Amino acid sequence: MSETKIISDSKKDLLYAAELIKNGDVVGIATETVYGLGADAENEKAVEKIFKAKDRPSDNPLIVHICSMDMLESIAYDIPELAYKIADKFWPGALTMVLPKKNNIPYITSGGLDTVGVRMPLSECAREIIRLSGRPIAAPSANRSGYPSPTTAMHVYKDMNGRIPLIVDGGECMVGVESTVISFDDENTVRILRPGYVTAEQLSEIADNVIIDKAVTSELQAGQKVTSPGMKYKHYSPRADVIMVDGDDNSFYDFAKSHLGENIYFLVFENDIEHMQSDNVFSYGNDSIQQAHNLFSELRRLDDIGAEKIYVRMPEKSGVGLAVYNRLVRASGFEVLSV
Ligand code: TXA
Ligand code: MG
Repeated sequence: MSETKIISDSKKDLLYAAELIKNGDVVGIATETVYGLGADAENEKAVEKIFKAKDRPSDNPLIVHICSMDMLESIAYDIPELAYKIADKFWPGALTMVLPKKNNIPYITSGGLDTVGVRMPLSECAREIIRLSGRPIAAPSANRSGYPSPTTAMHVYKDMNGRIPLIVDGGECMVGVESTVISFDDENTVRILRPGYVTAEQLSEIADNVIIDKAVTSELQAGQKVTSPGMKYKHYSPRADVIMVDGDDNSFYDFAKSHLGENIYFLVFENDIEHMQSDNVFSYGNDSIQQAHNLFSELRRLDDIGAEKIYVRMPEKSGVGLAVYNRLVRASGFEVLSV
């Protein structure tokens, strides 16, 4: 395929992107979480192109993006009352709900499951493309399978040039990590399959019970049943080896002093920088929201400058921090060092 074109998010450009979607093409789309690779969720041939562009395993289901509650009801059924309450509070936003799928969503989109993950994005750019095309849009993160998700149009271009015809540049993503994915165990119980910007604490204000699925923080054991197929793959990982390091300030700084070296980098909190004099130390922010925003772009940056090993200071595990921790524990293949 020829060079991938990058266009703006002007009305005229969004119309063009929507035309391509209607024609069964794949388009790189800005959302508030990360960039997605969007195609008509009901068109098997179009969805097949997404899997091909990403080299994605065919049993990993895609999230379908919608712009209205009518569109939700056109693709899902048996929607619990709790789902409506949650939608009311968190949509449009960084939250995906897994619900029974209607037949118009083909099995290629749902990874062979009878359910579909649905999200109404906050990004105007994404919602306008859905509205203009009139199609529910299947969109996984726009990275090559296994790599960190893209948070700028340039990241998408690097991974996808020549693999898709078009990218819509909507600027840097506000959130920086993918949406929270939830399913419903019963009418009062939410299960978090993937943590994100919408937190367990926030969901607890609406649901009686919020369960964090085991796969969020721990490695799947052989033979264990997967609730979210994406959980079983190594993920979010740059070419470099990523290792999370847990320890108090002084132990952490001592560890860094003895482990810094050529092509060995540290990704730390903003406040750590003044205690660590080295060109190989980078910050991914102080609080969880900053860390979520910066994590993937910093991992990509370190890859670009040739890092072989990246030690990352372990984030908080509460609030949005749980999403940051979850991405890091997967990027590192569950390798956490205590110092
Ligand atoms: O923020 C996001 O969610 C981004 C943007 C583009 O919207 N999309 C995204 O898609 O992260 P993807 O494909 O990279 O991740 C989708 C995750 C996977 O872990 C997948 O297994 C899970 O959602 N998922 C999707 N449909 C599911 C289903 N029916 N049942 C269980 N898990 C599902
Ligand atoms: Mg992804």
